[in-house]
Amino acid sequence: MKLSFVSVALSLTTLTSASWTKNINYRSPSENHPGMGIALHKVNKRNTPGKAFYGSQLNFTHGVASGDPLSSSVILWTRVAPMMDDVNSNSTDSGYVPLYYHGPNVTAVSTAPACVNFKVARTSDFAVVESSGTAYTSSDIDYTVKVEASNLTAYTRYYYQFNVCNSNVSSPIGRTKTTPDVNDFVTKIGLAIYSCSNYPFGFFNAFGNPARKDSVDYVIHLGDYIYEYAGDGDYGYGASIDRIPKPYGVIYTLYDYRARYATYRTDKDLLLSHQMLPWIAVWDDHEVADNTYRDGEADLNNTEASFVFDGGVAVEQRKMNAVRAYFEWMPIRQVEMDDSESHWHVTQHSTCTFSSSA
Ligand SMILES: *[C@@H]1O[C@H](CO)[C@@H](O)[C@H](O)[C@H]1NC(C)=O
Ligand SMILES: *[C@@H]1O[C@H](CO)[C@@H](O)[C@H](O)[C@H]1NC(C)=O
Ligand SMILES: *[C@@H]1O[C@H](CO)[C@@H](O)[C@H](O)[C@H]1NC(C)=O
Ligand SMILES: *[C@@H]1O[C@H](CO)[C@@H](O)[C@H](O)[C@H]1NC(C)=O
Ligand SMILES: *[C@@H]1O[C@H](CO)[C@@H](O)[C@H](O)[C@H]1NC(C)=O
Ligand SMILES: *[C@@H]1O[C@H](CO)[C@@H](O)[C@H](O)[C@H]1NC(C)=O
Repeated sequence: MKLSFVSVALSLTTLTSASWTKNINYRSPSENHPGMGIALHKVNKRNTPGKAFYGSQLNFTHGVASGDPLSSSVILWTRVAPMMDDVNSNSTDSGYVPLYYHGPNVTAVSTAPACVNFKVARTSDFAVVESSGTAYTSSDIDYTVKVEASNLTAYTRYYYQFNVCNSNVSSPIGRTKTTPDVNDFVTKIGLAIYSCSNYPFGFFNAFGNPARKDSVDYVIHLGDYIYEYAGDGDYGYGASIDRIPKPYGVIYTLYDYRARYATYRTDKDLLLSHQMLPWIAVWDDHEVADNTYRDGEADLNNTEASFVFDGGVAVEQRKMNAVRAYFEWMPIRQVEMDDSESHWHVTQHSTCTFSSSA
């Protein structure tokens, strides 16, 4: 992954580049580190359009989400995966494995792209579509789809939906809202604010309630959206409430982090919040590991072996895995990330400006 997103994008043919580049998840999570993106020329070369998945082979596995609203655009998210995908695997890998690992018995990376269209309108019957587009996804990014819907009007509620290209297979309908323009006068904005959501600690009804009551405009999550601990007894007793997140052990690999997000996003309250409300999210430490700092985390010993071999994954690699999975699964824009993985992110609301960092 040495080539930057910008340089590889130029090598694509005009026809396909629009659809690959439209999916923000191929880019680097960090504007300042383009090398952390996926080499699109390789994705493009490997994928065989003739082998594209049919609608009947694909499923919208984890609903829809929206986030990082601005006054004229918002990020839309979904995941459309082939149904043979093995997200139930327990295994933690070490050594070299394909970027997307389907499970213990499949070693090849898929060569079939998945194509979706999206549409955005002010009514849920999509009578007047105000923003639309097409995006591809593939195994490289865990079949996630993240697009920017632009051309929108400030402080307006919108509905959106994804549809597998050339099929009648559609995602649930999502709802979102743009922010007021910087100079708009708005007297009241409802925010639901969360942090520290640990799946095995208890139920997520607090996520679902503002969506059910339709009582807020936006959700803010201040971090610790997931926890990296082992599923049961490490930090919470998931077995007692049938909430043991996958994979079973402490998470280290890219596969592990993706599978952990995939479990959290089976929670019906969390799914509803993502479907009905735009999220503004930043990470804290547990999106990587406990008390993560630039070069390590709390559970390490002051030995080289500890930094290189904990969980079979070097600290640097683990952080890359964690940040990539977060970027793939959350409805966020690229951020300005510095070398200690601080994540700055500013949203302007009318005359007041909210900023947050974690
Ligand atoms: C498609 O995904 C939904 C949501 O995860 C799930 O309930 C459903 O069983 C899946 N359908 C198939 C055919 O796998
Ligand atoms: C996952 O691993 C745990 C611990 O080794 C084991 O008890 C459990 O049965 C495994 N689950 C699956 C689905 O393989
Ligand atoms: C993997 O393949 C082996 C041999 O074919 C089989 O016994 C095992 O059940 C498979 N494991 C999974 C998780 O599918
Ligand atoms: C932008 O929105 C306007 C008004 O809804 C519409 O007429 C126009 O076609 C849209 N432009 C694009 C590029 O989607
Ligand atoms: C979608 O559904 C319509 C109405 O049922 C049908 O006529 C059409 O053939 C379907 N399209 C595809 C691609 O399956
Ligand atoms: C730290 O040292 C303890 C005691 O020797 C050991 O049990 C533990 O596995 C080590 N942790 C790491 C991450 O190396």
